[in-house]
Amino acid sequence: MLATFALLAPVGWLWWGSLLPTPYAVTDMGYVDTGGAPAPETHDHHGVGVDTLRETSTAAPAVSLTLTARRQAIPLPSGRTLDGYTLNGTSPGPLIRIRQGDVLQVRLVNADVPDGITLHWHGVDVPNGDDGTAGVTQDAVGPGGEFVYRFVARDAGTYWYHSHQVANTQVQRGLYGVLVVEPRDGPTGPDVVAAAHVHEGARLLDGRRAVLPVPAAPGTRIRVRMVNTDNGPTSAWVTGAPYRLVAIDGTEVHDPPPVTGESVLLTAGGRLDLEVTVPPGGARVEIGGNAAVVLGDGPGPAAAPRPDRALDPLVYGTPAPLGFDPAAADRRFDYDIGRRPGFVDGVPGLWWTVNGHMWPDVPMYMVARGDVVRMRIANGSGEVHPMHLHGHHAVVLSRNGVPATGSPWWIDSLDVADGDSYEIAFVADNPGVWMDHCHNLTHPSEGLMAHLMYEGVTTPYRVGGPSGNDPE
Ligand code: C2O
Ligand code: CU
Repeated sequence: MLATFALLAPVGWLWWGSLLPTPYAVTDMGYVDTGGAPAPETHDHHGVGVDTLRETSTAAPAVSLTLTARRQAIPLPSGRTLDGYTLNGTSPGPLIRIRQGDVLQVRLVNADVPDGITLHWHGVDVPNGDDGTAGVTQDAVGPGGEFVYRFVARDAGTYWYHSHQVANTQVQRGLYGVLVVEPRDGPTGPDVVAAAHVHEGARLLDGRRAVLPVPAAPGTRIRVRMVNTDNGPTSAWVTGAPYRLVAIDGTEVHDPPPVTGESVLLTAGGRLDLEVTVPPGGARVEIGGNAAVVLGDGPGPAAAPRPDRALDPLVYGTPAPLGFDPAAADRRFDYDIGRRPGFVDGVPGLWWTVNGHMWPDVPMYMVARGDVVRMRIANGSGEVHPMHLHGHHAVVLSRNGVPATGSPWWIDSLDVADGDSYEIAFVADNPGVWMDHCHNLTHPSEGLMAHLMYEGVTTPYRVGGPSGNDPE
C-alpha cells in the first residue's frame, strides 16, 4: 500500500496542481518573462483596462454593416448539409472591402449561437479592445446580444475575420469571412478572393465550390488573394503562366520577381496574394491540388501536379528598410515548442509545452510600449505549428540560423515546421493583452497558447465561469 501511495502521490499532486481556477484571468496565468529587461515594479490589477483601448479616431465609418450570426444548416456540394454557422445567412460571411485609412464599423449580432461568439480581425493590427478574443479583450456575445467593432483600416492588404469563442469548432463550421483593405491611392487592379476552407474533406473556395472561374481577357493582370482558413498548411501553384508573389499576410513584397515551377506554402491563418497576367490559353491557380481559380475566358489549362520546388520567402524579392533596428532589441524571447505527457486541467494527455512548461504555466511575454522585440520560435514537438501573434506584424530575420536576404518578410502567421527555428522581430507599438498561439485551432485548446502583455495593461474579462468565455 505504501508503495502504491508513493507511486500515486506525485501523480495526484501533478493532477491537482494542473486544475485551472474558474473563472481565471489570463494575465494571472504562468510566469512573467521580461525578455531580459528589468522587471516592472508592480504587477497588479490597477493598470489600463483593455476595454478602454479602443479606436481613438472620431471619423465617421466609411463602411458600416451588421453581421448576424446564426446556427444554420449549410448545404455542401456533396449534397449533404453541415450543422454550421453563418453570418448574414452565408458561410463565409460577406466579403468586406474598405479603403486604407477609412473607418470600418461592424455590429456583430448573435441571433442564436448557443455558446456565444466574437469576431477577431486576423492580421489587422486593431486596438486591443477590438481584437475580439473572448475572455481576454471582451466577453463572448451571447444569443440576443451584440458588440460593435470600430477601427481604422490602417494597412492595405488581405485579411480575414473569424470567431474567437470556441474558435476551433466555430471557425471549422463556418463563422469566418474575408476583409480586403484597398490601398489608399486606388485599387491594385482586378482581384479575386479565394478563401480556402475544407468541409468534410472537400476544399471549397467560396464555401460553395472547388473551382472558381474568373472570366478575364488575355493580358489582364489579376491579383488572387488566397486565404487559408483551415487548421493545416496547404500549397498553391500556377499553371499556364508565371506568377509573382506580391503580398504575404497583407504586406506587399518588395520587388517580387516572376516565378515558374515553384509552389508557395499557404500556412493556416495566412494569406498570400499572387499576381498573374492572363495568357491567351488562361491560367490555373491550384490550391492544395483539389481546388483552383481558373483565370481566362475558356476552361484554362489542365490541372498539373505540384512542382517539386517551393518558393522560399527568405530569399525572394529584394531588401527594403524595416523602419526599425532588430539589432537594438530591448527584449529577447524564446517560444520553444515541445510536447510531453502530463495533466492540463486535470486531464491526462500528451500536451504541448512552451519553453518546457505546460499550460497554464507558460511564459507571459512582458513588453513596454516602444520596445523592439526579438523572438526565437523553435519547434521540436513532432508536428507543424502555424504561429500567430495578434495585433502586430513581425519580420522574419532568419530560419535555422540562415539570415533572410530577400524582401522584408512580414508575417502575422508563420508556418513553423517540426525541427525548424525562426527568429522574428517586431516593434511593440500596440498596447494590450494579445494572444500568441498556434493557428491549428485544435492545438491552443491543448495548451499551445501564450500571451504578449504590455506593462500597465490589465483585463477585466475572465475565461470560464458565468461569462462562458472560452477563446479556443
Ligand atoms: Cu485567427 Cu487567435 O486567431
Ligand atoms: Cu500547433
